[in-house]
Parts: sequence; structure tokens; C-alpha cells
Amino acid sequence: MQGDIQNIVILTGAGISAESGVATFRGPDGLWEGHRVEDVATPEAFARDPDLVQNFYDERRAKLKTVHPNAAHKALAKLDAQWPGDLLLVTQNVDDLHDRAGSKNLLHMHGELNSGWCRACDGRSPFDGVMAAGPACPLCGQSGQLRPDIVWFGEMPYQMDRIDLALTQCDLFLSIGTSGAVYPAAGFVQTARHYGAQTLEMNLDPSEGSFHFHESRMGKAGTLVPEWVEEMLRDV
Ligand code: APR
Repeated sequence: MQGDIQNIVILTGAGISAESGVATFRGPDGLWEGHRVEDVATPEAFARDPDLVQNFYDERRAKLKTVHPNAAHKALAKLDAQWPGDLLLVTQNVDDLHDRAGSKNLLHMHGELNSGWCRACDGRSPFDGVMAAGPACPLCGQSGQLRPDIVWFGEMPYQMDRIDLALTQCDLFLSIGTSGAVYPAAGFVQTARHYGAQTLEMNLDPSEGSFHFHESRMGKAGTLVPEWVEEMLRDV
């Protein structure tokens, strides 16, 4: 796999945090922690029932304090620190497990649980409390205007320009623990491949776009990712 690889883009999804105890989105019952995704993860849902949505994300945010990065997060942080070429880790996850594992070249394309977005001043600021209580925005001081800094369905993911550029310049695109059900992330493999990258997928079972990848490794991220990182770092 290593060959002439210099620049790497890695996309992660909920599957990488599953072994840490964070629920994936599309479980066998089709529900996300007991809710339909459209009841908690759309701007319409927030307009209709802000308390339900705030409570839902408050619970997810509180849960973060009880979970820890697993071997896959740690291995990617090690690669980030030791890889001599460019490396960009793009996560769809709103948890902070990549951050806590130590990854530095990291983008949260779907936002972060530990960030608040003020609807009054449009500013974003770190947040780790209870948003349903209507706290004041630390930037403008207005109360009750913070919403989760999460990209909901129908909203534009963050930093797409930077991600698109990295995809056109990478030699290897790796996708870990994502079902490939949500665009634009699900289309990254095609962009990277179009521009000449090798493409590798690691997932518990084949994702919806599995056939787009040159190689698929099926299994748990906590096992597959550390093995792959050792492979990549062997000759560095
Ligand atoms: N190791 C590797 N893969 C795993 C593991 C594991 N231990 N456990 C589960 N998986 C796989 C599942 O088989 C599934 O294909 O992870 C994938 C998780 O898929 P989803 O739950 O659909 O999560 P994700 O792809 O990240 O969702 C994308 O959808 O709701 C939106 O914005 C939300 O970012 C999210 C986006």
C-alpha cells in the first residue's frame, strides 16, 4: 500500500467511535439513540421543538465525558505526528475523540458537540454545558440564542473548499467506519479516485459505496486501523 504515497486524506465516521461506546447513527433499528434522525438533526426539527433537540444534544455532550479515544483514534494521532507527507483527517463525527487522542490536522466537517453557534451574533465558541438552559453567548452576551454547532441535514458541511483541494492532491484516500449514506462525504472516494488516488475502505461491513474503493478491509476499526498505521510507518 505504501509505495509512492506522500499525501493522505482520511475520512472517519461513527464506526471509529463505536468501540469507545458512542452510538452509530444507523443502528439495526434505524434509530439514533431512540430518535428518527429527521426529528433531531434538521433545522426544521429545531424550529418545531427546540427543547427536544437541545436535550438530545445535551445528552450526547454529557456522554462525551464518559467515553475515551480507542486504539483507532490513537493510531491515527500517531500517524498524524509521524507521517512525513501531508495528512488531513476529516471526520463526520461530532464527538471529540480524535481531538483528545491528539490528532492535529483535523477537520470536523459536521461540526462539534463541544461548540455553540450563536444565532444572535453568528459567532462560534467552545461549549461544554447544558444548552437547553439557555445560557448566554460568551461572545455577545445574549441569552437563549445558542444552538448546537452541528451541521444538520439540509445545511452545508464545513470547510468543503479545503477538503476538496486535499482530495484532488492526495495519493491515498482512506475511509473508516462510515456507511457511505450521507453526501457530500460519501462522494469523497470518487473525487479522490478521479484525481488518481489509491482508495482504501475499513468498515465492519461493506459501505454503500464499497465498490468505488480499490481495496476494502472488513472488521473493527480498533483492530484494522492500528495494523494499517504500523504498515504505513514501517519504512518511514
Ligand atoms: N469498526 C468499523 N466500522 C464500524 C464499527 C467498528 N467497530 N462499528 C460500526 N461500524 C460501521 C457500521 O457498519 C456502519 O457502516 O460504521 C458505519 C457507521 O455508519 P453510520 O451510523 O451511518 O455513521 P456515519 O457514516 O458516520 O453517518 C454519517 O450521517 O446522520 C448523519 O451527520 C451524521 O455524520 C453523520 C452522517
